[in-house]
Amino acid sequence: MLPLILWASLVGCQVTAKADSCFAQNYNPYVLFSTYTPYEFVHENTDDPVHIPQCRPVQFWILSRHGTRYTDAAGINNMWSLISLRDHIITNSKNGRGTLCAQDVDNLKKWTPQAVLTLSMNLAPQGYKDSYNVARRFKSRFPALLNQSYSPEKFEIRYTNSQRTTLTALAFVDGIFGSTVDVVLPKPIPGDPLLRTT
Ligand SMILES: *[C@@H]1O[C@H](CO)[C@@H](O)[C@H](O)[C@H]1NC(C)=O
Repeated sequence: MLPLILWASLVGCQVTAKADSCFAQNYNPYVLFSTYTPYEFVHENTDDPVHIPQCRPVQFWILSRHGTRYTDAAGINNMWSLISLRDHIITNSKNGRGTLCAQDVDNLKKWTPQAVLTLSMNLAPQGYKDSYNVARRFKSRFPALLNQSYSPEKFEIRYTNSQRTTLTALAFVDGIFGSTVDVVLPKPIPGDPLLRTT
């Protein structure tokens, strides 16, 4: 009798193992990942100029970290190890195991890690976009200060000596002035005593 019950309960499992939802059709996925959350998902939802009665903005300062970067080499290697997990999931699904819908499995088949080791610690494309868009929003919020053409007497830009911080600064400049071409960008000071925290 026992094998039959076991068989029946296995079949029972298979019957319940049907997809009842698809991640591919979730248009409102969970996006909050602590310090890894792209600003695009969480920023204040207004572009209106800041207006404080009896006041006008006279200076704008921003001291900012770099935008979202690629992880370190170990983290990138960990991402590549997900390929074998991906393949296990695809094989299981082919053999009728698991609850993923067909579209999710298809998407997994197309998925491959995007990060390569030479990019470790570099600014990610999302990091560039975030810094660019932060600049655009500040420009809308403080047009009297930031919506004007560049001049080296009025604007000073500094950044530290790494790819991710340099490119974050350029993205911000790009957002404010629409280009980095005419902007004076001083060479970063190695081990800058003012901007570096470590
Ligand atoms: C900047 O000024 C121009 C010209 O006055 C205006 O068309 C544009 O919308 C302004 N941009 C922002 C972000 O305030």
